Amino acid sequence: MKKLLVLLLVVSMLIAVTACSKTPATTGEAPAADSNKVDIGIVLPTKDEPRWVQDETRFTEALKSTDYSVEILFSQGSSAKEKENVEALIAKGIKVLIITPQDGGAAASAVEAAKKEGIKVIAYDRLITGTDAVDYYVTFDSVAVGEAQARYLVEQATGTGNPLYLYAGAASDNNAFLFFEGAWNVLQPKIADGTFVIKNSSEAVALQGNAKLTRDEMGKIVGQVTTNWDFNEAKNKAEAHLTSAKAADKGNVFILAPNDGTARAIADAFAADTAVTSYKVTGQDAEKASVQYIIDNKQSMTVFKDVRTLVKDSIEMAVAILGGKEPQTTGSYNNGKVDVKAKQTEVVVVKNDNVKAALVDSGYYPASDFTNLK
Ligand code: BGC
Repeated sequence: MKKLLVLLLVVSMLIAVTACSKTPATTGEAPAADSNKVDIGIVLPTKDEPRWVQDETRFTEALKSTDYSVEILFSQGSSAKEKENVEALIAKGIKVLIITPQDGGAAASAVEAAKKEGIKVIAYDRLITGTDAVDYYVTFDSVAVGEAQARYLVEQATGTGNPLYLYAGAASDNNAFLFFEGAWNVLQPKIADGTFVIKNSSEAVALQGNAKLTRDEMGKIVGQVTTNWDFNEAKNKAEAHLTSAKAADKGNVFILAPNDGTARAIADAFAADTAVTSYKVTGQDAEKASVQYIIDNKQSMTVFKDVRTLVKDSIEMAVAILGGKEPQTTGSYNNGKVDVKAKQTEVVVVKNDNVKAALVDSGYYPASDFTNLK
């Protein structure tokens, strides 16, 4: 009887180990190099932002039906950790690497190491710059994200002299430039005609006559109003701007915030200032906390990027590569070194009046995740 029990235990342990190798493993730690073989390695930038936890969840859901073995690792905001993660996945024999770089330039060396081993690299959402070791790029239309944010602010503004506060993402993220480029395309004519007056960036004021900005010019503005994608930095910066602004620079204000996490932090700072009568603030990602802020009229809009599509596109690409086929692409992005073949996805604007239709009725989030949903 005892022998039978031991045998059963061993058999069930073996089943558990085999099952594990087929489901995506998720850990912040680089695993030991001698564990099971992995076909597709996925490296995401951080678990500290809900955006990337969303992607992890959607990958895990989508990968349930694949026969390939997959492992997801997080770099926790560190390019060194990212390199270690890539090396650990290379040691496990991956054939395809799907990676969102923490820093688009610094990630070049990690993907070059992968390329040397014949691994195909798919940049996921953020482009890796200055290297020929990126094979494909799956992305949202990031210029359209910035345009949608700016268009919202323009639609809400009446008259002239409306105070405008600009914030941007991290300068190490190529997307921060694409978002800002899109926003500038729409805002600049409305700054030139006096609808908006920039209140928090001397660099943007110095360049406000230019309809198009070079990357260096954009770099000056982004450098001044960056949030580094960090909630605390966003909050501290907004508070500092409000402290140095005169009461006349407040009143009904318009705020370009690059994403949801920073939007909530900036919104809280503006809401706490008694000289601010009302504020309109943009966002991006449709994070649950921001969706609730939109329902509660604490954030004005978000740009919904359906992560399910990006996940599906990147898995389809990986499966095509593993099957020896050429993945489908729709265009290309220059990364400063080569044109990277890309597949691009459109974005959707979400405001108080279409939260339910865009995010709940579409099956993206259950209604029970929110309160006071209409
Ligand atoms: C992504 C955004 C995200 C931001 C901060 C960008 O590259 O496109 O969705 O909010 O990084 O993580």
